[in-house]
Amino acid sequence: MNTTVLVTGGAGFIGSNFVHMLVELRPDWRIVNLDALTYAGNRENLAAVEDRKGYRFVHGDIRKEEDVEAAFAAAKGAPGDRLLVVHFAAESHVDRSIVSGLPFVTTNVVGTQVLLDAARRHAVARFVHVSTDEVYGTLGATGAFREDTPLSPNSPYSASKAASDLLVRAAVHTHGLDACITRCSNNYGPYQFPEKLLPLVIANASEGKPLPIYGDGLQVRDWLYVRDHAEAILAVLEKGRKGEVYNIGGNNEMTNLALVRCVLAELAAPESLITYVKDRPGHDRRYAIDASKIRAEIGWAPRFTFETALPLTVRWYRSETEWLQRVRSGAYREYYARQYGARGDPA
Ligand code: NAD
Ligand code: TYD
Repeated sequence: MNTTVLVTGGAGFIGSNFVHMLVELRPDWRIVNLDALTYAGNRENLAAVEDRKGYRFVHGDIRKEEDVEAAFAAAKGAPGDRLLVVHFAAESHVDRSIVSGLPFVTTNVVGTQVLLDAARRHAVARFVHVSTDEVYGTLGATGAFREDTPLSPNSPYSASKAASDLLVRAAVHTHGLDACITRCSNNYGPYQFPEKLLPLVIANASEGKPLPIYGDGLQVRDWLYVRDHAEAILAVLEKGRKGEVYNIGGNNEMTNLALVRCVLAELAAPESLITYVKDRPGHDRRYAIDASKIRAEIGWAPRFTFETALPLTVRWYRSETEWLQRVRSGAYREYYARQYGARGDPA
């Protein structure tokens, strides 16, 4: 039996790390990557797999049924083959959702429903919906999110992700779709768009530019290396129970300030670069994940410690200076339009 995975949002941060991991760990699987190449999607992240047999890129928008159908057509195998879906595609940045919530509703909510409907039509064997711990809202000084913690999203981003989680739940209960939901804490690692805290801080500190810290910088996040997240998603894809939610976390709570200080130490850059700026409206104070369910049921646990993975990450951004330059200037889009324009890819 052959397996094909339709990945959405595979040109983004976590999606591209997931595709790289699949090529390594499941070399026989076919991969179809459906991505709209928004500002956050970069085909360069997958340059190493572009020409690989069994990999197909489909440039399309999950909000458009015809694009989703084109991706399913590319993923179609022989009778009896297994078709899986891993759904990463989303608008993912909280700050952008504060400026304008509508793209978050159309992609994260409407796009997810378009995919769910197509997954039913194409008899998908398993659908993994990649969600976030932010759907649970914010915590006080103690405690951690469990899978039965009530949904209480506070930003337009997290509200749109919570809505998409509920649509996945409804597809399982109403239509019998075999789907699982994963809710992960903050990721760090290669290929993250430099609007997010960690790559932003590495890039700015490397150039001696100020590091903007929202409010008092004492907000707490639970940081997980992206490769660990990718492996957890694969574990849920293969071993998760239908209809279940799995929290994924690194047991690595840190304040933003402590995280930024670790990066500065790694770069031997001065703390004077830290610059306090106006806080994010509605800023969640603390996230912490109880990941005991995925550990007990599936046997997944993070392999990387913060002490090993942060230096790896800092080194990656320091060595990929051209990647960083092209992403920050927007030049990556022009380059790929030139490179792939003839194949009808990026607009
Ligand atoms: P990202 O912003 O880096 O990548 C998103 C990808 O989706 C991009 O390649 C983009 O082009 C694509 N995309 C956006 N809109 C699309 C559309 N309408 N149609 C098709 N493709 C579209 O995001 P990320 O950080 O890699 O996050 C991936 C998923 O993981 C998201 O669903 C996010 O909610 C979730 N998540 C992220 C984190 C994190 O720390 N980054 C943590 C937990 C969960
Ligand atoms: P971010 O990477 O945007 O992830 P999220 O909001 O999904 O957790 O931000 C991580 C934390 O860093 C969050 O508490 C907001 C804070 N932050 C700053 O203090 N300054 C910044 O410039 C950014 C982008 C984030």
